[in-house]
Amino acid sequence: MCIRDSAVGGGLRYESAAFHGFSMGVSGFYIFDAGSSDLAKKDAASGQANRYEIGLFDVTDPENLNEINRVEEFFIKYRKAATRITFGRQLINTPFINLQDGRMRPTAVEGVWLETSVGMKHQFQGGWLYGIAPRGTSKWYSTAAVSYTHLDVYKRQPLNGKTIYIAKCASCHQVNGEGILTASGEEYTYPPLWGKNSYNDAAGLYRLSNFAKYAKYNMPLGATHEMPQLSDEEAWDLSAFVNTQPRPHKETPADWPDISKKPIDHPSGPYSDEFNEKQHKFGPFKPIAEARKTSK
Ligand code: HEC
Repeated sequence: MCIRDSAVGGGLRYESAAFHGFSMGVSGFYIFDAGSSDLAKKDAASGQANRYEIGLFDVTDPENLNEINRVEEFFIKYRKAATRITFGRQLINTPFINLQDGRMRPTAVEGVWLETSVGMKHQFQGGWLYGIAPRGTSKWYSTAAVSYTHLDVYKRQPLNGKTIYIAKCASCHQVNGEGILTASGEEYTYPPLWGKNSYNDAAGLYRLSNFAKYAKYNMPLGATHEMPQLSDEEAWDLSAFVNTQPRPHKETPADWPDISKKPIDHPSGPYSDEFNEKQHKFGPFKPIAEARKTSK
C-alpha cells in the first residue's frame, strides 16, 4: 500500500515579559491536510490500517484531517533565581513525560510544574498534572479516570451492581463469576471475577476505585477510554457487587509500613483513623477524606 501525507499548518506563540517574576504564555497550532491518501484505509495484505501516518494527524479519528487545532500552552509562570513554577497548559521535558518525537502535535500537559536547579549539577522537577493532550491527538483528557468526587457523594450499592452484572457482564464472566476456561483448560478465555481462581483480596482490583476505573474504560470487552459503555455510577456499583463476592485471601503485612499513607478506599485494615473496614471499603468516603485533612 502506498501512503502519502502532506499537510500545511502554522502555530502562534506568545510569552509576555516578566513582571515581578510573573509572565504568561499562550500558543496554538492548526493543521490542514494537503492531499494525503485515505489514512483510515486498510492495507489489502494485512487488513490493518497504518500505525504511523495517522499519528501525524489525529490518532483518535483517522478521518479527521482538517480540524486538528489545539491550544497547546496557556500558562502563568513565576520565575525567581533558578526556580520556575508554571501553572496551566504547558510543554514539559522529563524522562517520563516529554514532547515525544516528530508528530505534529507533541504531548502537552496541564497542571502545576516546578523546575529548579541546585548548583550546576542538579536539576529538580516535580508537580501535579491533571490534564494531558497526548501526541497525535487534538483533544485534552483528564488524568483521573473516575473522579474522587463520586466517592464523596456516592454510597455504594452492591445490589444495583448485581443487576448490572447480570445484564452486562455475566455473558462472559458467567452468573457465578467463575469465568470460562479455554478448551485446553489451562487458560481463561474470560477470567473469573470471584471464587477460588479469581484475583485475591490483596490485588489492586479489590479496591473499589481501581475496579471502577478498570471496568469503566475496558468492559464490557470492547469499551475504550473514548467510548466507555458504563456510567460512573454503574462502574462503582459493579465494583461494590463484585468485590463483596468470596475470593482468595492473601496476607500482606509488609505492604504498608506507614498505614497513614493507605489510600482512603484501601479495603483492609489496620488504619491510622477510627473508621472501620466496611466504611473504608464501601464509603461514604468523604468523612474519611476530611478527617485525614484535619489530622495533618
Ligand atoms: C464479551 C465478553 C466480556 C464481557 C461482556 C465482559 N468482559 Fe470483563 N473481561 C473479558 C476478557 C476477555 C477479559 C480479559 C481481558 C484481558 O486480559 O485483557 C476480561 C477481564 C475483566 C477484568 C479483569 C480481571 C482480572 O483478573 O484481571 C475485570 C475486572 C472485568 N473483566 C470486569 C468486567 C465487568 C464488570 C463487565 C461488565 C460490565 C465485564 N467484565 C464484561 C471479557 C468480557
